Amino acid sequence: MTDIENIVILTGAGVSAESGIDTFRDAGGLWEQYRVEDVATPEAFERDPDLVLRFYDMRREAIQTKQPNAAHEALAKLDNEWNGELQIVTQNVDDLHERAGASRVLHMHGTHLNAWCMACDMRSPWTGPMIDRPPCPACGAKALRPDVVWFGEMPYRMDEIYGALRRADLFVSIGTSGAVYPAAGFVRDAKELGVRTLELNLDRSQGSHWFDETRLGPATALVPQWVDEVLTG
Ligand code: OAD
Repeated sequence: MTDIENIVILTGAGVSAESGIDTFRDAGGLWEQYRVEDVATPEAFERDPDLVLRFYDMRREAIQTKQPNAAHEALAKLDNEWNGELQIVTQNVDDLHERAGASRVLHMHGTHLNAWCMACDMRSPWTGPMIDRPPCPACGAKALRPDVVWFGEMPYRMDEIYGALRRADLFVSIGTSGAVYPAAGFVRDAKELGVRTLELNLDRSQGSHWFDETRLGPATALVPQWVDEVLTG
């Protein structure tokens, strides 16, 4: 891969699945246990904030008991050793990329480990529950919500993501079903820009036919193998 300089990597729930974090759309996944419209929309939060806060409190607590796996570790190694531009764009709201040691990580769907104050707009690091309406550390208002992007809201840092895609030579999608836009559209955007595209996933994603190459298998096997290939040129 000597012709590759700039890489954009999109990750989804599949990259954290082997760490024990439920995916959304696989059998037994979160969206089989809960309805999106009950827990992951601004309307749900308005209608039943306790239900929504409890759901995210549970998820926030759970992710803190999980550890990065070999896929996160391989991506962190790539991030640390890659001299070209590299952007890990994750849809995941866990912090396993960072805990594995990656730093060039952008959370387009937000993070479980931030609280967002609806009164003063401040985001604060947050590890505890929100169900008891704790005060905002900045302004004291009891108006915190999870800093995650709900359906109907705009994902974060889209300009940076499209900028990175425009400069990329390679776009790699890992462990995402390709069901949620705009992330699901990145492969088409990349193709239109003439960027090479590779999919690493357990099963084919919805947009699988758009990729130049698809490799199927668990992330903990595929990702370290691909990273070795890239780093050895
Ligand atoms: P999904 O649950 O939709 O898809 C998970 C993908 O990971 C599937 O394609 C699986 O085949 C794959 N997978 C499962 N186990 C794997 C493993 N061990 N190794 C590799 N791949 C594996 O999750 P996402 O695509 O991340 O958004 O979902 C996208 C967005 O939908 C989420 O960010 C979330 C959700 O609703 C919001 O909440 C806004």
